Amino acid sequence: MYESEAKLAEPNATMRSGVGNVRATVPREHRQTVGNTRVDNPRIRCNKLNVYYGDTHAIHDINLDVGNNEILALIGPSGCGKTTFLRCMNRMNDTIPGCRVEGEIIVDKQNVNSPEVDVVPLRARMGMVFQKPNPFPKSIYENVAFGPRIHGLTANKAELDEVVETSLVKAGLWDEVKERLDQPGTGLSGGQQQRLCIARAIAVQPEVILMDEPCSALDPIATAVIENLMVELRQNFTICIVTHSMQQAARVSNRTAFFHLGDLIEVGETNELFIRPGHQLTEDYITGRFG
Ligand SMILES: Nc1ncnc2c1ncn2[C@@H]1O[C@H](COP(=O)(O)OP(=O)(O)OP(=O)(O)O)[C@@H](O)[C@H]1O
Ligand SMILES: [Mg+2]
Repeated sequence: MYESEAKLAEPNATMRSGVGNVRATVPREHRQTVGNTRVDNPRIRCNKLNVYYGDTHAIHDINLDVGNNEILALIGPSGCGKTTFLRCMNRMNDTIPGCRVEGEIIVDKQNVNSPEVDVVPLRARMGMVFQKPNPFPKSIYENVAFGPRIHGLTANKAELDEVVETSLVKAGLWDEVKERLDQPGTGLSGGQQQRLCIARAIAVQPEVILMDEPCSALDPIATAVIENLMVELRQNFTICIVTHSMQQAARVSNRTAFFHLGDLIEVGETNELFIRPGHQLTEDYITGRFG
């Protein structure tokens, strides 16, 4: 068990005693981000990001970097803007009528929000796994083969077969589906469908993987498979994961960003943030006093 996990298991024992622990000092009313929002050589850099749904101001002036080869966990109570923030990264908010995004999201020196950005290749580079699995109405094989085929990533059927198998193995689904690859993806159980969607996302070798509560429908064994996969993928990719599980954030992420009512309240190294939160709201949330 990591130190931060141990701490989460017994929040009151360490947090409340104050032994070896700096008490949070920033009051609840303070809305400016605590912690270092910037990293060296970011993969993604957000500058003054604001998102509106009609008159609702859902994301407030957020500055945040996501590093190369890092897993960034996004945490915070329901409705705080985690999904909205994640969906900005690959312009998924474009599909929501009345949604307006302002500010910059710089990836490879280009602002993702520029009108001239073609969202199809952008979404291949920045793959997404949603909370609710959404397999295509196609066979299991075709769900995974679809992306590599349309992006021309494989030269022949043998290579495509290889990508499909490798992706399904990595997502921890191969053994359960290898005898029925031609059957519909929608015929799998919820947890299997989610692993299929993860296989589909990684089959195109995205640079960034955006995951919105990817394990909420999975049992502990499948969750462990996906968490191990994330740690493995981090060697080559960048991952942003929304999670309601503090334990999961502590297990897999390098940095954690805590959102509250559309504000980025605190960001920092995961171990540091869970052990020594700098903001009262962060402390209240991670110790289970609200959320
Ligand atoms: N399509 C939409 N139209 C209007 N308002 C929306 C829409 N999607 C989200 N919102 C609002 O934006 C705010 C942020 O929502 P968001 O879904 O990003 O929260 P979240 O942190 O992902 O919550 P949860 O943990 O419940 O998934 C909320 O006030 C929500 O009601
Ligand atoms: Mg959400």
